[in-house]
Amino acid sequence: MTNKKNTDNKKNKQKRKKVKLLLRRIAIVSASLLIIWLVILMVFKGLKGLSNDKQVDSKATETQTSIDITETEVAIETQPSDETTNSTVPTDLTDLTDSTGNTSVATTEATASEAHTESTEARTESTETSTESTSKEVINMDFSVVSYYIQTRDARYQAYFLTHKAMSASEIVRDVNMNLDFNFYGQIEKVDDPNALLVICNKYYQLPSDFTPENLTNVPEGYFVADGKSYQLKQNALDAFIAMSNAAKKEGLSLRIISAYRTNSYQANLYQKYKNNNGQKAADRFSARPGHSEHETGLAIDINDVAQAFENTQEFTWLGKHAHEYGYVLRYPAGKENVTGYMYEPWHYRFLGVETATQLKNLGVTYDAYYAMYLLK
Ligand code: DAL
Ligand code: ZN
Repeated sequence: MTNKKNTDNKKNKQKRKKVKLLLRRIAIVSASLLIIWLVILMVFKGLKGLSNDKQVDSKATETQTSIDITETEVAIETQPSDETTNSTVPTDLTDLTDSTGNTSVATTEATASEAHTESTEARTESTETSTESTSKEVINMDFSVVSYYIQTRDARYQAYFLTHKAMSASEIVRDVNMNLDFNFYGQIEKVDDPNALLVICNKYYQLPSDFTPENLTNVPEGYFVADGKSYQLKQNALDAFIAMSNAAKKEGLSLRIISAYRTNSYQANLYQKYKNNNGQKAADRFSARPGHSEHETGLAIDINDVAQAFENTQEFTWLGKHAHEYGYVLRYPAGKENVTGYMYEPWHYRFLGVETATQLKNLGVTYDAYYAMYLLK
């Protein structure tokens, strides 16, 4: 009996020993697995961190390579993508205002692409979106080295950079100074001195609706297209035009005014008429909204023929060589619609005085760009 008990006890002891051994092995294996898992996890995390760092590095390099800071005054204007609109616009914009003051428009239909191949839609940046992303991205560009940098616009330069990374600092400052970070008529400022010789009047700067220029003078017989209407210009612009027309005459050419000073209400009627006939989008490409037409300054003229065909005349070629000598500049050149807001107008000239007109001609820039680089404070 006692022997059997002893044998049972021994067996039980051996069993317990085996169970203990088994449990210990399981514990060791589990611990090992846990350690291996933790090691794998750490290695994986480490690799991920490394690859993130690499991405940040390569982004920084990308940003660095697009930086081209120069103090040189840039005379090249940004060309938008070669997007072509097919909206219909008239090529003959002769204003047929009758004696009652009502306007009618002679329109020779043509697609916009025939006149030029630019679209203002190429530039539709939203400042809001840009500003949002500014906080996420470091801007490694110093705009303050550009001579026409304006400190209060710094945030706008930074926002514009984010959507124009291929541009140099000077190009960005110039564009933002022109307000191109806003859509046309998207930000409107009243002009400080509407009577100033160098007054800027475009889709961002508006003249007061009750403005009448000082020194308006009637254009004398022989210097305007005889159409039964009378024309007025500021004295200085008129004197310069007469001198220019006389000089052209000596070379057998005829320069005559076909549109000069317009009142705000005249411009309002004209724009409304074009808008009714062609739709707002098309009208905005060749007609200014009231308060935004240079004709309201008394310093702008249309010469001979308000039609694209004027470009093919000897008079146009002569003006290209000599207009600046009399203080006039071609205000809406071909290929600059993204900057001026208007399609090519070979007939529209602005009086700026000989000095500025000559500088502008030598630089090959629009007056909008010239103002943004040399006059804006
Ligand atoms: N045609 C020019 C842009 C004007 O309406 O003043
Ligand atoms: Zn004009």
